Amino acid sequence: MYQNIKATVMGSINMDMILNMQRVPETGENVLGTNYGYANGGKGANQAVGLSRLGAQTKMIGKVTDDANGHKLLENLKKNNIDVSAVSLGGTQTGLAAIIIDGDGKNRIVVYEGANAEIDPAEAASFIDNSIDLLLVQFETDEKVVAECINKAVANGVVTVMDCGPAKPFALENMQGITIITPNESETKALTDIYPETDEDIFKASEILFERSKAKYVVLKLGERGCSVFDGNNIRIMPAYTANVVDTTAAGDCFTAAMALEYIRTGDIFTACDMGNKAGSIAVSRMGADASMPTAEELNNF
Ligand code: RIB
Repeated sequence: MYQNIKATVMGSINMDMILNMQRVPETGENVLGTNYGYANGGKGANQAVGLSRLGAQTKMIGKVTDDANGHKLLENLKKNNIDVSAVSLGGTQTGLAAIIIDGDGKNRIVVYEGANAEIDPAEAASFIDNSIDLLLVQFETDEKVVAECINKAVANGVVTVMDCGPAKPFALENMQGITIITPNESETKALTDIYPETDEDIFKASEILFERSKAKYVVLKLGERGCSVFDGNNIRIMPAYTANVVDTTAAGDCFTAAMALEYIRTGDIFTACDMGNKAGSIAVSRMGADASMPTAEELNNF
């Protein structure tokens, strides 16, 4: 259903080191883990895998170092049918994320950006033109490269979706005219100083984001509550689907990828967010980052 969509992701590529435990340690405390493993991750790469698995023609713009992790991650992207001709080799070290997951499937993540923070803005933007339908970006790369890519895409009439992870203050005023801006709860707090707890908080935070980014739609990802959609006038909460939560890692990446493709296909933000909710609920029921991304068939059968 998404085969004709040409999508480009500019973003991070990380090796994830995942440790499971019943309870995360307090400061100075040592707890025993139940198991650990390595997985392909990075918000950009996860979203690229999400798009490709749903059938879109996907290209990744990013950077990894010429080291073992860099090569493994590149191979994984290729295996997922992603065009990696715009991923450069170089920089200090390939990005790494240390992820600890508690018994309820909730995570805490520390990211070392490495090469992700060293993408050249002009080079990255040179891969964006009016031949693509969609550009997806996140905040796990330098702010300048995000701004340059968004501005080039907007100037070329490309639909732009900005996932605002991880939480940090970003100068949204330097990247105007985004189609959809989609932070989660902690990212909303970092960008607006409002944690979207009540309906009133959700409305106020959405208004601020709408003003600051001049986006067409503000979509807040609200975890197990689903998401909210604001178009500058009205707000609507779209409840999540129930799920057996195993690991919430990359659920937001999965939501963003599915929501973006469905928006391009239908032009309807509500259908798009409903698809994002379905995809997110599949992702939380599975372990891992890119490994939890569903196929189009799985979404259809949901
Ligand atoms: O969104 C999940 C991702 O955040 C993980 O794959 C990790 O690499 C961090 O970037």
